[in-house]
Amino acid sequence: MTTFENLFGGAATVDAWCPGRVNLIGEHTDYQAGLVLPVALSLGTRVELRPRGDDTVRVFSAGQAAAGVVSFRVSAESKRGDWVDYLQGVTAAGRAAGLRMSGFDARITTDLPVGGGLASSAALQVALLRALRAGLQLPADDFTLAQLAHQAETTFVGVPVGWMDQLACSFGDPTHALFLDTRTLAWQKVALPDGLRLVVIESGIPHRNADGGYRERRRQVEEAARLLGVAVLRDLSPADLPRVMRLPDPLDRRARHVITENARVLAFRQALEAGTREQLGPILAAAHDSLRADYEVSVLEIDRLVAIATSVPGVLGARLTGGGFGGSVVLLAQEQEAAAAAATVAARYQRETGRVATVVVIQP
Ligand code: GLA
Repeated sequence: MTTFENLFGGAATVDAWCPGRVNLIGEHTDYQAGLVLPVALSLGTRVELRPRGDDTVRVFSAGQAAAGVVSFRVSAESKRGDWVDYLQGVTAAGRAAGLRMSGFDARITTDLPVGGGLASSAALQVALLRALRAGLQLPADDFTLAQLAHQAETTFVGVPVGWMDQLACSFGDPTHALFLDTRTLAWQKVALPDGLRLVVIESGIPHRNADGGYRERRRQVEEAARLLGVAVLRDLSPADLPRVMRLPDPLDRRARHVITENARVLAFRQALEAGTREQLGPILAAAHDSLRADYEVSVLEIDRLVAIATSVPGVLGARLTGGGFGGSVVLLAQEQEAAAAAATVAARYQRETGRVATVVVIQP
């Protein structure tokens, strides 16, 4: 067994963990200063670590066991194009922020599906930062850790993501949704209703071309905002849709998604707080339709998964969650029926598409 002791000799001195997240609603809004409503998962990523006292980093990831122990040097980070970049990004971001980074040995394990749209990369980066904060006594609060993880992802790894994942992983808990305003980065916890369960099902479709599609969507909404004369689409509301729909296609639909999605986050939050459950399913359905038809980040298999889920007794609603182009769906289900509904959905999906869906988690 590749325990820390077997890999590096001696015991780890720090053991840190960070959850992944599932986004309930508010998709592709967080790079236009919009609203999001993620929930931390009960699944996550663990980093066992021991500082070394020199500049060498040695890491082993159980999910990448074939790679064995991989090394790099703090202050000589250079992009490799694989999972190690998430770690190099963290030490580079820490140094850029003036923190005293130094070498360490680390072993990584996770029960999150990698590439499942559940923020596995943010969970890894925040878990490593938590381990480094404890191991190197870094003077950094949870908000700073989220910022460093975001910096690592956007500048070192080079994917221009918004703020949702790092903040959701750093501050979320599985019993509450995090209502996060990415304009101010202020957030509030919203209780999830009793008697309901979140079910996350992974489609078995890896994020094909996810980075390219993400960048393109981001460019398109930036262009739409420019043509509409606003800094960000958050500055517009559904009342502006007539003029938004005069933009050239597909910018009109891309902008409509972002504007209506912000309104859906508010409506969803209000329904959660008011306990008007019958409104939740239709809002999720409208959000999925918008991601499919206006933002075009779904794929046929995910649409099938959502359609099957929506037709199963006990399921209030379902939609694609995360960046899209594959990944996972989130279902809201009645507590008593959630496990049976999840199994039925996965079985029917396999029969109809030949793909294997995995029930990732049922929570809280
Ligand atoms: C990815 C990004 C987030 C967000 C979502 C889409 O998860 O990391 O910042 O943009 O896609 O909502």
